[in-house]
Amino acid sequence: MSFYLEIFDPTSNPWEKVKDEIIDLENDIFGDETFDEETLKTGFENPDNTIIIMRDGDGRAIGYAWATPAKALYKEEDDYQVFQGREASENTAYIYSLGLRKEYQGKGLVVRLYDALNQSLLSKGYTRLHRDAEIKNGLAANILKNNQGKIINNFEHDSPYGKQMFIDMWIPFLFLPSIHHDGD
Ligand SMILES: CC(C)(COP(=O)(O)OP(=O)(O)OC[C@H]1O[C@@H](n2cnc3c(N)ncnc32)[C@H](O)[C@@H]1OP(=O)(O)O)[C@@H](O)C(=O)NCCC(=O)NCCS
Repeated sequence: MSFYLEIFDPTSNPWEKVKDEIIDLENDIFGDETFDEETLKTGFENPDNTIIIMRDGDGRAIGYAWATPAKALYKEEDDYQVFQGREASENTAYIYSLGLRKEYQGKGLVVRLYDALNQSLLSKGYTRLHRDAEIKNGLAANILKNNQGKIINNFEHDSPYGKQMFIDMWIPFLFLPSIHHDGD
């Protein structure tokens, strides 16, 4: 199996061109809890967002990650008041959505997608990450466990999707040792 990662560029990919593919991907990942088309359109058209699409060897979109500037998000009208009272600096990104098609889940692929998102954010000058992770499925506990030393703050809160953990952390990156050349 081979995969590649695309940094989504809204200037060369107008919403009308990508919408069928993205809606199909979103439906496969999130089933009954998908974003509506307007939310996706606004998100994919906004150049301030950072969106990474993972594709298989045939170019089919199999997952995506979407981060947005946290400060602007917390100022927006928030129907569920999850973001009310939150503060963020200019260098904080919020993970708005992240997922893989069902057939590709449980294979560890999210690590690559997540790393590409984080690298892209770091290259834009972001240093901190905010996210809300589900508690019931163990994701929040896993994130805390896997990011010891990088967590700045975390707390539980109610949300329309059940209890979640808000996590404020430094943006992590994978450590890949560089190739060492001897004697040249
Ligand atoms: C959640 C989801 C992205 C995980 O992807 P995956 O490739 O199936 O992940 P795996 O189960 O193979 O886990 C691989 C590793 O990534 C970690 N991981 C899982 N989800 C993660 C996430 N959202 N962010 C960061 N790391 C994550 C796991 O803890 C695991 O690490 P560990 O082995 O050290 O515990 C995927 O199952 C999915 O798309 N689910 C539906 C959508 C969803 O619930 N998205 C989360 C909302 S943010």
